Amino acid sequence: MRVAIGSDHAGLELKNEIITLLGDMKIECIDFGTNGAQSVDYPDFGEKVSKEVSAGKIERGVLICGTGIGMSIVANKFSGVRASLCNDLFTARMSRLHNDANILVMGGRIVGKDLAKEIVRVWFSTDFEGGRHLTRLNKIKQIEERFIRHEL
Ligand code: RB5
Repeated sequence: MRVAIGSDHAGLELKNEIITLLGDMKIECIDFGTNGAQSVDYPDFGEKVSKEVSAGKIERGVLICGTGIGMSIVANKFSGVRASLCNDLFTARMSRLHNDANILVMGGRIVGKDLAKEIVRVWFSTDFEGGRHLTRLNKIKQIEERFIRHEL
């Protein structure tokens, strides 16, 4: 599995921690920035990561901004992206079991480093349950087909 990772300035420090952790977990990680401390706009980095996942070029993504809210809003504009804002362990587990989330979003100003690392471990080691949850994901797909305007 390959993972696309991105953040804004508020998520940079945590992003670097997560890159190291993913390396330790033997998960290949592609960094889409930001890589400097200067203030940047989270939609630019959310778009880079979400595009890869939406196009099926990279299987999973991790996005980090200050709260995780902005990155979640951006990522869920992309067809096929199921981004879950997980600032706690229960949500991290459920977002994989029930929602088959393919982008993990966290708030660098919300979660501490150790909790964030545990969220990543749980999120990457939990499988989708399928069954009735697949029926629901198929309904989301139908909504996307009806309402999302695709880039030409
Ligand atoms: C940046 O100050 C902050 O607004 C951003 O990181 C994020 O929290 C937006 O949702």
